[in-house]
Amino acid sequence: MNKLNFEVLAKENVFDLINKEWMLITAGDSSNFNTMTASWGGMGWLWNRPVAFLFVRKERFTHQFIEQNSRLTLSFYAEEYRKALQICGSKSGRDTDKVALAGLTPLKLEDGTMTFDEARMTVCCRKLFATDMIEADFADAELYKKFYNANAGGTDHTLYIVEIESVYTK
Ligand SMILES: Cc1cc2nc3c(=O)[nH]c(=O)nc-3n(C[C@H](O)[C@H](O)[C@H](O)COP(=O)(O)O)c2cc1C
Repeated sequence: MNKLNFEVLAKENVFDLINKEWMLITAGDSSNFNTMTASWGGMGWLWNRPVAFLFVRKERFTHQFIEQNSRLTLSFYAEEYRKALQICGSKSGRDTDKVALAGLTPLKLEDGTMTFDEARMTVCCRKLFATDMIEADFADAELYKKFYNANAGGTDHTLYIVEIESVYTK
């Protein structure tokens, strides 16, 4: 794997990368970690550094791993791993060994974070900011009605802003 800085991300179309390719958000260490699929998010520039924006609902098992750890990874996969990402986006690590089910191979990085050997690219991130996206803060009230209820997605998101510290590619 090649360790690069954020500039390699300029070669990517971030809209396609996140919304179409999807990503795994993985938090925790080699002895205790969890991963989940995400297709909402962004990458950009804030506080004079490259950042990513993540939206994780509070009921996700991964949420507590993100809360308890200062770093996490975002990993990206070729189309052949679509099924693996579907599994990681529909099963919960609370009650399933979905990493095994998805056929992914855990890989520890030098900062102690976790990714998977199958990833074509892994973005290592450090948490900078977190806030819960509560109903009162929605300028468009319809969005809250549409996306935050038992029939559509579930509970509130936590917005995480994370610093992009390094990028690994194969
Ligand atoms: C394509 C796709 C995209 C998803 N995007 C998100 C997301 O951005 N935020 C989120 O909280 N959940 C998202 N999910 C749902 C979680 O991946 C799913 O609930 C997962 O089972 C949570 O696993 P966990 O309980 O082990 O954390 C997505 C699921 C899929 C299939």
